[in-house]
Amino acid sequence: MGSTIKSSARVSARLKELVQKSEHLNMDVADERRQLSHLVQSLGYELETPMESIYRLIVIQPLLYMCVRVAINLNLFEIMAEDESVPKNVSQLALRVGADETLLGRLLKNMAASDLISETASDTYELTTLSASLLKISHRDAFPFCHDVLLPSFSATPRFLAETRYANPTNITDTPFQFGHHTKRTFFEYLGTYPEQAQQFNNFMGLYATDRPRWLDEGHFPVREILGEGASEEKDAVLMVDVGGGKGHDLILFQQRYGDLPGRLILQDLPSVVKQAGQLSAGLESMGHDFFTENPIKGARTYYFHSVLHGWPDEKCLDILRQIAAAMKRGYSKLLINEIVIPDTNAHRLATSMDLLMMTVVAAEERTEQKWKYLLPLVGLKIVKIWKFEIGTESLIEAELAGD
Ligand SMILES: C[S@@+](CC[C@H](N)C(=O)[O-])C[C@H]1O[C@@H](n2cnc3c(N)ncnc32)[C@H](O)[C@@H]1O
Repeated sequence: MGSTIKSSARVSARLKELVQKSEHLNMDVADERRQLSHLVQSLGYELETPMESIYRLIVIQPLLYMCVRVAINLNLFEIMAEDESVPKNVSQLALRVGADETLLGRLLKNMAASDLISETASDTYELTTLSASLLKISHRDAFPFCHDVLLPSFSATPRFLAETRYANPTNITDTPFQFGHHTKRTFFEYLGTYPEQAQQFNNFMGLYATDRPRWLDEGHFPVREILGEGASEEKDAVLMVDVGGGKGHDLILFQQRYGDLPGRLILQDLPSVVKQAGQLSAGLESMGHDFFTENPIKGARTYYFHSVLHGWPDEKCLDILRQIAAAMKRGYSKLLINEIVIPDTNAHRLATSMDLLMMTVVAAEERTEQKWKYLLPLVGLKIVKIWKFEIGTESLIEAELAGD
């Protein structure tokens, strides 16, 4: 039992550290909050036997994921949210969702055992903050999208890597995604043929943008000084092009905060995506555009990419940037790249797992600072500054034409 004694000393030391840190915790400072959450997680490992930890990783979590996926198919969380004050029992719920009571009871019990929902009495449940968040479409759609599109790629990765002799994937048409889905299509071509999953993906991108500081937040990036001052006030001048901007949530936020600055705001994405985005609010324009082709908007003040370039291997990324560099006006246009920049040490798991996600689906990566410093000059661009925010979150790379 020597290891148990050693372990209880560690648990007690970690608990003391936890209590000490929690006394000064400011929940609004994400770095503090995340460090504490990391500590709680490592405490969990200390309290579990290896068997329990391994079982949690390989059985409990995937099956919880499965339960949520089924619950979403049944609209279970929406039904549980009806008249929030009343906890629901299994027989009422089974009738409402149209499922066998025994089956539903088993799914609910498992979700309650992992605190995804709360068990208020025997066979009676109510939503927790986490399951209630699944009422939002961005949060809910993350599950079917990741379950149906990403998981088959993750599962295929070990066999794919063995077959490709553990080479780093760099070919967008030959990734665990194609291997797992038995398709020759790229990820985006595939989404183009499955509108429901494409819609879920776009909503999932909405989730990716929540609960984290944005460069657009007060005190993060001096938008007015860097983009606003000196921006052209001519009638057709463009203040920002959001390239590959999806449904336009960043541009909408930009307009809400800086709509008083002069210049047009233009959302660009593939025609099918722009169509899905529908009619944007007054003052925002949308334009179907393939970013591998010449950009029709010349000399904008800002060309902005959010979570786009990390989706392409280096050669493709350079092709996209070449088109932007060609559209930029020397001494005036800025390029802003909002992406995770992986630090040399202590990378956060949010960042490292995004890196692997990109690898498995599109043979791309979350790039390091060195990689960006190497890539941008290859297409005539230079980094002015990398604006860094919280650990694990995206940075903002400010760049311009080299020689400006
Ligand atoms: C990961 S999403 C990012 C969307 C948005 N910028 C955001 O942060 O939510 C990548 C976007 O690139 C778009 N995209 C992919 N290929 C494209 C292409 N060839 N031309 C323009 N947009 C493209 C996709 O449709 C998608 O909206």
